[in-house]
Amino acid sequence: MAKEICISNMNLNKILNNDAFSRDEIIYMLNLEKQDEIELLRDAAYSTMSKFVGEKVYFRGLIEFSNICLNDCFYCGIRKSNKNFHRYNLDKDQIIEAVKLAMEFNYGSVVLQSGERTDESFIEHVLDLVKTIKSISTNDIFPEGLGITLCVGEQSKETYQRFFDAGAHRYLLRIESTNESLFKSIHPPELDFNKRMDCLKSLKEIGFQVGTGVMIGLPGQTIENLADDIIFFKEMDVDMIGMGPFIPHKDTQYAYMIEEDEKSKWKNYELALKMIAVTRLVLQNVNMASTTALQAINPFGREEGLRYGANIIMPQLTPTEVRKEYQLYDGKPCMDEFAKECHLCLSGRIASINREIGYGEWGDSKHYFSRTQNEN
Ligand code: 5AD
Repeated sequence: MAKEICISNMNLNKILNNDAFSRDEIIYMLNLEKQDEIELLRDAAYSTMSKFVGEKVYFRGLIEFSNICLNDCFYCGIRKSNKNFHRYNLDKDQIIEAVKLAMEFNYGSVVLQSGERTDESFIEHVLDLVKTIKSISTNDIFPEGLGITLCVGEQSKETYQRFFDAGAHRYLLRIESTNESLFKSIHPPELDFNKRMDCLKSLKEIGFQVGTGVMIGLPGQTIENLADDIIFFKEMDVDMIGMGPFIPHKDTQYAYMIEEDEKSKWKNYELALKMIAVTRLVLQNVNMASTTALQAINPFGREEGLRYGANIIMPQLTPTEVRKEYQLYDGKPCMDEFAKECHLCLSGRIASINREIGYGEWGDSKHYFSRTQNEN
């Protein structure tokens, strides 16, 4: 009761003027429901973004190079036990074709994402890709070549080191939820929460720019859990954030939720936007993606994410013929378009909200530089 009184007495304008936030204040902001208050939150997050990282939007061309996955995460459409779709593994030429499109479109970076595998031939394939991408994209105009982000899951520290030495400099590994029992409820027992944490620590020790994130609106997840996720991002001192609404997939145990009312879908979407805004306010100078999952609910979801404080977009470069086989969740947009169409569509969308695109720039996380300077 005392806590409720305290929260109801909070003054939003006063909170938004802070540059450090208590857990109760984070919860208060995530609980906002009135449209005018949510807009105040959005505008505050936008000005924090402008002040700390600028208004430019950086592109990371996304190449989902294989949907073969060892893991059986309960929520994920490409989990091992789902037999209702075709598994693919793009060959090197197909991947390099996609990389060439990134160069043609003048993207500064690419993201190589796939289902999880840890065998040596997979690792060597990734190493070969990283080295080849570096060598073909390095020239007089672009002396460091394309920036490379990897998103290939839990690996040993030694493997992460090999990836880094080959030239990858960013790594995305979502914690999915920082609440251990919630994490357990959505993953099979062989996926260990502490191992995930250790992977994040190893990536940081090696020197990667490290990204993490959570799904928003998971069954059983509370606002307090999400507030703790934001506090975790801050304490873990991560450089990049990628998060979006949880969207039930038809071939998972959450299929029953698809039938649930539209209302809860929109609630997750709105909560995801509030999470982006509050994370921007709390973490200030990180890079934050406006994820495709937002657009699966609202056709303008990715533009909205940018208005709530995100500054990264991942345009699709995955060859159109396999895109449908990489459906982590239902309703994933941009399935039939060719990379060029996605490129033109996204540039138009970003221009429509008066944001500039950082073509040909890496657009690295400012947070990474401030934390590594402090460490030295
Ligand atoms: N809904 C939303 N996001 C999902 N992901 C996987 N399955 C879903 C889903 N059903 C996200 C996870 C993973 C990322 C690659 O995609 O957070 O880390």
